[in-house]
Amino acid sequence: MASDAELITAARAARERAFAPYSKFKVGAALETDDGTIVTGCNVENSTYGLTVCAERVAVLKAVSEGYRTFCRISVVADTREPTPPCGPCRQILWEFCGDIEVILANLTEEKGRYRLKDLLPLPFDARLLG
Ligand code: THU
Repeated sequence: MASDAELITAARAARERAFAPYSKFKVGAALETDDGTIVTGCNVENSTYGLTVCAERVAVLKAVSEGYRTFCRISVVADTREPTPPCGPCRQILWEFCGDIEVILANLTEEKGRYRLKDLLPLPFDARLLG
């Protein structure tokens, strides 16, 4: 299992690779699988704006496409004084693949908050409801 510091450091490094020429708002994410592997993501923007993909989603989709299916933590890093939490669609994607994981928010110098995903997405829609 990675340490908190390792996970946050990986998210900070991923943030450096963000493609954010439009918003200039760079975000990095580091997702830890249950075997301790860290899969990172950064936001990837598009000139049409709406096709932009958030760092969290990039990390989840990379991990799933590499065959990982069970996750325990994600760290999200942005250069903000207030914590930068996952957006609504990312919470739903995280819930689909990660369930109630721990979400660690940090900026470039310090941790800014720690949440369970069920508290960020208290009434999720998921496969249980499809019968
Ligand atoms: N963004 C993320 O990557 N993750 C978040 O948690 C919040 C927002 C990105 C999307 C867009 O590229 C930029 O930040 C500004 O919204």
